[in-house]
Amino acid sequence: MKHSRKLIFICNGSDCKKAGAKKLGKELKSQCNSTGLKGTCKLIKTKCMDMCKTAPNVIVGDHFCKKTDVDKVMVQLKKS
Ligand code: FES
Repeated sequence: MKHSRKLIFICNGSDCKKAGAKKLGKELKSQCNSTGLKGTCKLIKTKCMDMCKTAPNVIVGDHFCKKTDVDKVMVQLKKS
């Protein structure tokens, strides 16, 4: 099944939170809104993904972004 919206999963487990996942989520939301991607992607907060060593973790589509930041996620989002 093809999704009409791109799904972005942001880990909100304790280690990722410590590594700035909350701030990352907020920044991603504002970036998506300001770059015309509003309505085309959906941010979903998840529990721990069991990859705490590489926090913060984000999944964009089928790509796993480790030790990521807003820019890396936006690049991946535009690729997918
Ligand atoms: S807290 Fe994010 S992977 Fe464990």
